[in-house]
Formats: sequence, C-alpha cells, structure tokens
Amino acid sequence: MNFSAILGLLTDLYLAFKFALVPSLLDTARQPSLLIRPIALSRIFMAHVWTAFGPGVDENSRLEKQKLITPYAHGVVLDAGAGHGHTMLYLDPAKVTKYVAVEPNADMHQHIRRKAAGAGFNEADGTLVLLGCGIEDIGTIRAALNANGPCVDTIVSVLTLCTVPEPQRTIQALVDDILRPGGAFLFYEHVLSHRADVAWWQQFWAPIWQIPFDGCRLDRPTHLWISEVRDSKKERTGSVWAAQNVWGKDGETEDTLFWHRAGNFVKRLD
Ligand SMILES: C[S@@+](CC[C@H](N)C(=O)[O-])C[C@H]1O[C@@H](n2cnc3c(N)ncnc32)[C@H](O)[C@@H]1O
Repeated sequence: MNFSAILGLLTDLYLAFKFALVPSLLDTARQPSLLIRPIALSRIFMAHVWTAFGPGVDENSRLEKQKLITPYAHGVVLDAGAGHGHTMLYLDPAKVTKYVAVEPNADMHQHIRRKAAGAGFNEADGTLVLLGCGIEDIGTIRAALNANGPCVDTIVSVLTLCTVPEPQRTIQALVDDILRPGGAFLFYEHVLSHRADVAWWQQFWAPIWQIPFDGCRLDRPTHLWISEVRDSKKERTGSVWAAQNVWGKDGETEDTLFWHRAGNFVKRLD
C-alpha cells in the first residue's frame, strides 16, 4: 500500500488537533470534570472538528449524496447521526413529509435547527423532530414518533455507522422496528477495505483514531452488515431486502484508509 496514504492519516490527525484542541481545552477549563469523562471530552472534541471540517466533508461527498439521497429519500426521513443536518440540503421537499434528526451530540443541535429553518422543517408543526439520543435507542425514537411499529419510510446514515455502539445489533433493530416495509435504507459510509493490505492498516489505526473522534472506527464492514440483515420477525431465512444496490465513490482510489461505499436498500413488503 502507498506509504503516503498510510501517513495521510497523520495529516488528518494534525489538522483536527490544530482546529479543535484549543476550543476543547477552553471547554475543559470551564468544565474540569471533563478530565475524568473521556467519552464526553471526545464528543466535545468531535463537535469542534465537525465545525471546522463538516462543510468540507459535505462538499467532498456532494455528488454521491445527490445520487443517493435526492431521488430516493421520501415520506418520514430519519437521519441517523444528523451532525449539522447536511442531509437536509439533499432532500426533495416535494417528497419528504417529516425530517427526524437523531443526534446525541447536543453541541450540534443549534446547527440542525438553523438548517431546518432554511429547509422549511420546524418543530412547531411537527415536520422537524430533533432527538438527542443515540440511534440505538429505538424506544425513544418510537415514543417520539408515537409509533408502536415501524414508522419511518427512509433511514439515511451518512458517516455515522462507524461510530454507533453494537452496530450490527443497531442496524438489525432499525430495520426490524423502525423502517416500514417498502422503505429505503440509504447509506454513505467509510468501511473496511476489501483489500487485505489496506484493511491491515485500517485495523492498525482504528483503536488510536477512535479516541479523539468520538469512537469512530476505521475497520467496520458496514455495507456487508447491512446487506446481511435477515427478517428476524418472520420464520424465514431469506434477506429482508427486496432490492439492494451498492457502489463506490466516483474517482476514489482503492489505496485509501477511508474507503467509501454508498448503498440503496429497499425493505421487502411482505
Ligand atoms: C462524522 S459525523 C456525520 C454527521 C452527518 N451524518 C453528516 O454526514 O453530515 C457522525 C455523527 O454521528 C453522531 N453519532 C455518534 N454516535 C451516535 C449514535 N450512537 N447514534 C447516532 N448518532 C451518533 C455524531 O455525534 C456525529 O454527529
């Protein structure tokens, strides 16, 4: 594998610390208890990183999101790990009735509300639902949507499933309990490479990378896990998907530790 791709990660780390270290230290000075709460501190660091880099990351993946989200997101759309709400920029207002942002990092909520106002979603009329829980908290999501069964037409996950705890169980629960039959699961994620040399370096860096970046793992085969979801509610062995389509990022070389896969999966109707 190309040596500069391996070391490129150090450049990313350097830039992240350059922009996020000072504000994170200031936050720690205001709340010294963060020193004994490393997960909360990592989340604050990530919020500052995303303020600096979120717009650039969005711009860099704009073409993929236009292909993935705009034509297929419809009805009630749940944005898993909404961040600053960049997904809203790709929603077709004629097709989307409600935007549900699930974002556990409260420092990001002000950005979501601002984007929602620009996109015509608001909490007063129920077209915006903003939840501060993790995507694994199925009970809270259902309660907020007043639903006993699957109630969402589209789940969108952009660069989030790298971070959620127990990802396979969470994906299964989202498909079983949240996504309606006939609904779409749309994702754009960096995943474990299919190349052994790249995967080795992803697995090498993953435990280090996750410390400052709120648990983000470089070594998850998320696209394969989604593809493997079975219908656990019914006595059958087949896939829960009626259709699935996975593709890569245009122009991306395989020699990268951030190897992206986009996918459009449709849940079976029966
Ligand atoms: C790299 S950002 C991507 C944000 C957004 N999806 C986008 O592409 O602009 C990952 C987001 O996932 C959120 N996140 C972390 N753990 C999560 C969890 N358990 N459930 C839902 N979101 C989570 C983070 O707070 C962060 O906003």
